[in-house]
Amino acid sequence: MQNLIFTNNVESAIERLSTCGGHNLTVWIADVNTSRLITPTPPCLITIPDGDDNKTLATVAQVWNEMERLGVTRHSLIINLGGGMVTDLGGFAAASFKRGVRFINVPTTLLGAVDAAVGGKTGFNYNGLKNEIGAFAPASDVIISTRYLDTLPQQEMKSGFAEVIKHAMLSDRGEFLRLLEHDFNAPINHDDLLERLRRSVQVKVDIVTRDPHEQGERKALNLGHTIGHALESLAIKRQKPVPHGYAVAWGLVAEAVLSHIKSGFPSEDVHLLGNFVRDNYRDFPFTCDDYDELLELMRHDKKSRDGEITCTLLRAIGNYHIDQAITPDDATTALDILRDHMGQ
Ligand SMILES: NC(=O)c1ccc[n+]([C@@H]2O[C@H](COP(=O)([O-])OP(=O)(O)OC[C@H]3O[C@@H](n4cnc5c(N)ncnc54)[C@H](O)[C@@H]3O)[C@@H](O)[C@H]2O)c1
Ligand SMILES: [Zn+2]
Repeated sequence: MQNLIFTNNVESAIERLSTCGGHNLTVWIADVNTSRLITPTPPCLITIPDGDDNKTLATVAQVWNEMERLGVTRHSLIINLGGGMVTDLGGFAAASFKRGVRFINVPTTLLGAVDAAVGGKTGFNYNGLKNEIGAFAPASDVIISTRYLDTLPQQEMKSGFAEVIKHAMLSDRGEFLRLLEHDFNAPINHDDLLERLRRSVQVKVDIVTRDPHEQGERKALNLGHTIGHALESLAIKRQKPVPHGYAVAWGLVAEAVLSHIKSGFPSEDVHLLGNFVRDNYRDFPFTCDDYDELLELMRHDKKSRDGEITCTLLRAIGNYHIDQAITPDDATTALDILRDHMGQ
């Protein structure tokens, strides 16, 4: 399993990891923004363009070419510094170069820290399909910190926070309630947030350890994503993309409603979540005219089978069951109540 290090003293953790292990060379991979987060600039740094649009084979090839030029061997160490784009793409490039070079992840976004950098999925987008090519290839170590989050735009913070709420919903009501008190306008309390990250990551680690290759239980991490992905895909199709985590936040509310209808999830928790999402993830861009397209997208979700809509549902916070079939009527009701919550 991956070695996870929770610290805000990132430099000394990196120093320790790069001096042990007898590496002949340490090479950093960062995007144009995250490369500015390390001072002084390391001698071997591969800088790639930022954003999901650049999570492509061309960028992977750029990284391989620079690794070749720098003389990377199987005894080298790669350090991926960035959000999920960098850790997904850099992880894949490292895992495939000369059949695998050791790499560590240093996530610089909230989403990266609680989700993308941990759990071993790497890859890139191909032929217009997200994460179409990739491999399960865990980083040997992940250094999780809040160190870089002060410069992260609020929208990115909110986006990552939706996954933090998701993890709490899969595990612990006390933590869920605590998260709903979060104020995105207040300065970051680094010690407190690092503790939240520690708990959040542990939920993912526990699930992934039991099911590393997504044969079953790992689908629990899909909570909020059946409906969330449909909303995200429709927004992309209309060329008005929404941040992934916003779609997840809306999806969590809709799937909490479904959980209430089908599995007795308490309505009080639906309301608490709905209010938080209404206050923090505004500008819900859909109406009832979009339902047919949304249902069609749910039927074609990567994780659904035979055109049946399936979701992870909760009986209560921390008590989930995967692969639950949802009828179009149930999904429509959930979207109605979601729109109500969002004040639409
Ligand atoms: N492997 C997995 O299990 C997994 C899970 C979830 C998401 N992902 C992937 O993660 C990617 C999204 O990751 P993301 O949300 O971290 O986005 P990202 O890596 O694209 O980063 C978003 C933007 O923030 C900038 N940035 C990063 N850190 C910053 C900082 N500290 N201060 C200021 N700006 C900063 C980046 O340069 C970029 O412009 C997607 O490609 C998605 O597919 C992977
Ligand atoms: Zn997600």
